[in-house]
Amino acid sequence: MTSPNRLVPRPGIDQIKAYVPGQTVEAQGRSIKLSANESALGPSPKAVEAYKAAAERMFRYPDADAFAIRSMIAKTYNLNVARILMGIGSDELLSALVRAYAGPDDEVLYPTATFPMYRIYTLATGAKVVQATDREYGADIDALLAKVTPKTKIVILANPNNPTGTYTSKKELERLRAGLRDDILLIIDAAYAEYVEREDYDAGASLVDATMNTVMSRTFSKIHGMAGLRLGWCYACEDIISVVGRIRSPFNVSTPAQAAGIAALEDTTFQRQVIDHTRRWRETLIQRMKGYGLSITGTEGNFVNIGFPDVPGRKAADLDAFLKNKGISVRPMAMFGLPQHLRITVGRDDEMQSLLEAIEAFYAGAKGNA
Ligand SMILES: Cc1ncc(COP(=O)(O)O)c(C=O)c1O
Repeated sequence: MTSPNRLVPRPGIDQIKAYVPGQTVEAQGRSIKLSANESALGPSPKAVEAYKAAAERMFRYPDADAFAIRSMIAKTYNLNVARILMGIGSDELLSALVRAYAGPDDEVLYPTATFPMYRIYTLATGAKVVQATDREYGADIDALLAKVTPKTKIVILANPNNPTGTYTSKKELERLRAGLRDDILLIIDAAYAEYVEREDYDAGASLVDATMNTVMSRTFSKIHGMAGLRLGWCYACEDIISVVGRIRSPFNVSTPAQAAGIAALEDTTFQRQVIDHTRRWRETLIQRMKGYGLSITGTEGNFVNIGFPDVPGRKAADLDAFLKNKGISVRPMAMFGLPQHLRITVGRDDEMQSLLEAIEAFYAGAKGNA
């Protein structure tokens, strides 16, 4: 019997399907996880050391201002420390930004094949999701601008984009900002900024400094290999920082996370190794997959997103199942709106060698069956 006083969540929450993280499988005595865009090389040993050293201080609340790590970020990237806010991963900050600037009856606009959390943040506030059609698997600035209505409150752009690996140039980003009303917040989610190899790319700080309505978010989960510690930050004008600062948890970033983050930023040699390793394997993977006649949607990030033909035995799902049986998990892209694609994260040397061998075996078998 339904009570007239039935407890119901806010409108919009019923439409949310819980986020499904990248999976792990075990088969043939091994488990290779290439499904969550984690870092191939893990964290810097110096970050691990700093984390352990901070353990003694766990009885104290962390520095609510996270001043030391914010100062280190400001120094590293030549930014204004007052414009930096730390979060429990960039996820907390993205969620708080949407909560702060959108609500029931508002619209949040973003491209089609992109990070599925944007949908969850939006629906959780009661706002409406509006998506612009992509161009060649990347953000189409004209299509985004065409979808702006008087109700648009926020535009979100992952740059580079997860899962497609495409990027938007600095010029195009500026064109997008210039085409948006001043009362629309532009969020540039630059989670994969460090892996980009493009002269015309900018993670977004200059646009933040030039405007009062733009935010750039960054993370320690990717390049710094600290996804399990939950550490991210955003850069925005003081007004936006003050708004988000008021609704975040006061002690959001733990003492060990702050300490490890500082050590990770200091270890530039390790960062260089991660970047070189990732780009090298990314290119190898791209060339191999192209060699099998497959398409690649974009080349940035620590992953490769691959398009498969709709041919029985050769589909994305077929390779996914084959790899699972060999203990290798990659990410099917249906949840990201691309059912014929698989996204593969760059792993360690041995993991990538195993992956390439498995893929070779798959195509050798597929040929044999043809
Ligand atoms: C585009 C994008 N933004 C944000 C995030 C969230 O990162 P974090 O671990 O900092 O919450 C991810 C994680 O995969 C991502 O791909």
